[in-house]
Amino acid sequence: MAEPILSRNFGKKDSHTLQVYVEGGGYEAMKKALKEMKPEQIIQEVDKSGLKGRGGAGFPVGKKWSFIPKESPKPKYLVINADEGEPGTFKDRQIMEQDPHAVVEGAIITCFAVGIHWAGIYVRGEYVKSIERLEGAIEEAYAKGYLGKNILETGFDLDIVVHRGAGAYICGEETALLESFEGKKGQPRKKPPFPAIVGLFQGPTVINNIESTASIPHIIKNGGEWWNNLGAPGIGGGVRLFSVSGHVKKPGVYELPMGIPLREIIYTHAGGIRGDKKLKAVIPGGSSAPVLKPEEIDVPMEFVSLAKIGSMAGSGAVIVMDEDTNLVQVLRVLLNFYAHESCGKCTPCREGTGWMAKIIERIEKGEGQSEDLDTIVSIANGIRTRTLCPLGDAAIGPAISFVTKFRQEFEDYIKRH
Ligand SMILES: Cc1cc2nc3c(=O)[nH]c(=O)nc-3n(C[C@H](O)[C@H](O)[C@H](O)COP(=O)(O)O)c2cc1C
Ligand code: SF4
Repeated sequence: MAEPILSRNFGKKDSHTLQVYVEGGGYEAMKKALKEMKPEQIIQEVDKSGLKGRGGAGFPVGKKWSFIPKESPKPKYLVINADEGEPGTFKDRQIMEQDPHAVVEGAIITCFAVGIHWAGIYVRGEYVKSIERLEGAIEEAYAKGYLGKNILETGFDLDIVVHRGAGAYICGEETALLESFEGKKGQPRKKPPFPAIVGLFQGPTVINNIESTASIPHIIKNGGEWWNNLGAPGIGGGVRLFSVSGHVKKPGVYELPMGIPLREIIYTHAGGIRGDKKLKAVIPGGSSAPVLKPEEIDVPMEFVSLAKIGSMAGSGAVIVMDEDTNLVQVLRVLLNFYAHESCGKCTPCREGTGWMAKIIERIEKGEGQSEDLDTIVSIANGIRTRTLCPLGDAAIGPAISFVTKFRQEFEDYIKRH
């Protein structure tokens, strides 16, 4: 098996400390970037790496950085998204708890490349240990002169703060996150303007996920081409952390190449289905990703291939369901989640998610009828593309895919109850 990169410090004693991080080659990339490279070269290297955002949307990281204006009358900001709210996703937490200096180093390189002097990390409020570990790493970096004024005597200044979220899924959406960061109610902003132009406190802002940021030191240390080649042949894009949960023998976080077939993740790495049962369904990229049937699991786990079969690579969260799973119950849990987390700002999402949740609850209670399934699909299609932020579309992914791909199972349930 290939040497771990992003997870190389996981499980090591005191892996969160500066000492252990530096012993493993930590902060060498920062030194290289600040002392030997020009900001444009760093952006080019990240471009070459094929790194796509690990928060869910899969936007190329180098391209996002290049949208930030070089000159700006307002300060520029880096905001790192550690809200990790997508159900099934638990990989950013591992990075923050076990390798927080990788985030700090990635943030320093990002800010140097884009000309930013203030970065904020927005962490899910429940992640108390992650917050403590990040704060500890930031403190150590200040003490060592890696943060603050005139870093490594290069004239570059950078401050980093940690900001606690308060547990709303919508605050992971980048513009709601900015609102929340500014102390306001966490509701999405209209786009455009995009955060790259008008972001935090109206300044140009880069928003990147924790894993995206922690990938940067490796790319700078070893080169963009090296990272790109770590992905599956013909696909590239490096490695990513997959959160694997549900009915597998070995749930956990797995570092694997972009483009690895889903079948290999489930059967080779996660040990196959618990109790050697049959696979019934799998969500490949967090709860917003449309569900797949067993005959679809040879798909390469990367953004384009999954989109081609109507699903999403998303946050890399693989949720596995065996033959005994009650899909009516699964869909009820998912639709209740989206109805609960809808921020209520736009009507199709606010009303539609609530209606879908009520209908599936009725079906589960044994009060449903076959036409209800068509109503769920019709409501979902009414939400599609008519909302202010992608949460509306995120809710319809599971709704339509479960009801259409497993229609017979839903029909049988309605008949039996
Ligand atoms: C409803 C919703 C929730 C989201 N939650 C998260 C999250 O918890 N963490 C995250 O990194 N991105 C999340 N995103 C994606 C962010 O909006 C944004 O695309 C991402 O932070 C950008 O970083 P990246 O390009 O490095 O992936 C969410 C998006 C939506 C629509
Ligand atoms: S789509 Fe939903 S979560 Fe997004 S702004 Fe509209 S109501 Fe809020």
